[in-house]
Amino acid sequence: MPSLSPARRVAFDILTLVEDGAHSTDLLHERTAALDGRDAGLATELVLGVLRRQPQLDYLAGHFSRRDPAHFDLEVLLALRLGIYQMRYLERIPPHAAISESVEMVRRARNRSATGFVNAILRKVTREDVRWPGRAVELCMPQWILRSWEEAYGEDAATAIAQAALEAPETYLRVPAGASAPEGADATAVPGCWRWPKGPAPEGFRVQDIGSQSIVPLLGLEPGQRFLDLCAAPGGKSLQAAETPIRGVASDRTLARARDVAAQGVPTVVLDGTRPLPFPVGLFDRILVDAPCSGTGTLARNPEIRWRIQPEDLDNLHERQVKLLRNALKCAAPGGRVVYSTCSLERRENEETVAEALQGVTGWRLERSHYRLPGSEPGDGFFAAVITST
Ligand SMILES: C[S@@+](CC[C@H](N)C(=O)[O-])C[C@H]1O[C@@H](n2cnc3c(N)ncnc32)[C@H](O)[C@@H]1O
Repeated sequence: MPSLSPARRVAFDILTLVEDGAHSTDLLHERTAALDGRDAGLATELVLGVLRRQPQLDYLAGHFSRRDPAHFDLEVLLALRLGIYQMRYLERIPPHAAISESVEMVRRARNRSATGFVNAILRKVTREDVRWPGRAVELCMPQWILRSWEEAYGEDAATAIAQAALEAPETYLRVPAGASAPEGADATAVPGCWRWPKGPAPEGFRVQDIGSQSIVPLLGLEPGQRFLDLCAAPGGKSLQAAETPIRGVASDRTLARARDVAAQGVPTVVLDGTRPLPFPVGLFDRILVDAPCSGTGTLARNPEIRWRIQPEDLDNLHERQVKLLRNALKCAAPGGRVVYSTCSLERRENEETVAEALQGVTGWRLERSHYRLPGSEPGDGFFAAVITST
């Protein structure tokens, strides 16, 4: 009996778990660790590619089977998505390998009766062009998200954002002032941020997206200042801020993922930032509120978010964000600065959050805000608002 290759076994298992609510990036990190580099690369490409292209793959599964894929068993649907993705979107996979491995996935999932069905459908798959049934399938983005971006940024920018979410994200390294960038890295417009064009990141350098690295400079940190990073985990921005000799505190609801921050000697506090904060009023010169958000600026990296997030989730996030920002403002020193940021592209989580948090608050004003939009600027999408004392 043919056996399933390690990359496809891991990809199939991860896609099954993602259907149950798990995060693809976390699982890829865990489950590709034991694979060799080539298998890890293929598993990553398969998982993220299938999640990004899901509506096109399901449309093609329906097109080649002449059935509604909504009625397929999950293991059949996933085996078809994986098979069609390899046969139509990848260049180097022989079709017979893609077909036999998808058949094997269904057999391994103990659905023997469906093996012939999967085999027959995949044998019909060609690379001929198809007409997608609409923009949501063509751009692989839920209609409501596209509409929200079209209203906020216009149709061309919305298309560019969605197209950027179909590509694998580039790798960026953090290179603190005084350290040398590795050979082959390209300088970027963000100080200390270097693009790494060569595959796996070199040892000794922290990977941090360019959009993420663009936030800390907005704080204008100066040596000796008291700094609070209210939502610090996993800690990329806290570590970047600590490159300046400040008196920093990193807090979060959970710091389990922020071990590097504590290891760098930055004091850490576990707290719920929506509740009154355990710091004196006006203590901090600079505060960063890098709030929990929908993450719609990171869809190239976290592709399943777009299939999970619902419009009503934005209201819940907005409420939490307003509380976090209001609490932060109470701890900011007169003459200080608070930066509110998210990796969301949704106005509800950004402009509307800042406006509501500032309502009725004296002594603080919105100085400026801006978006980094994927497709227009490199890296993840981000929003940042700089709030200063009046
Ligand atoms: C966007 S992430 C922060 C990323 C981080 N600043 C970095 O650069 O690595 C948002 C963080 O908010 C934290 N968070 C969510 N709800 C919170 C709350 N009520 N109080 C404090 N932190 C919270 C989450 O645990 C998560 O780590």
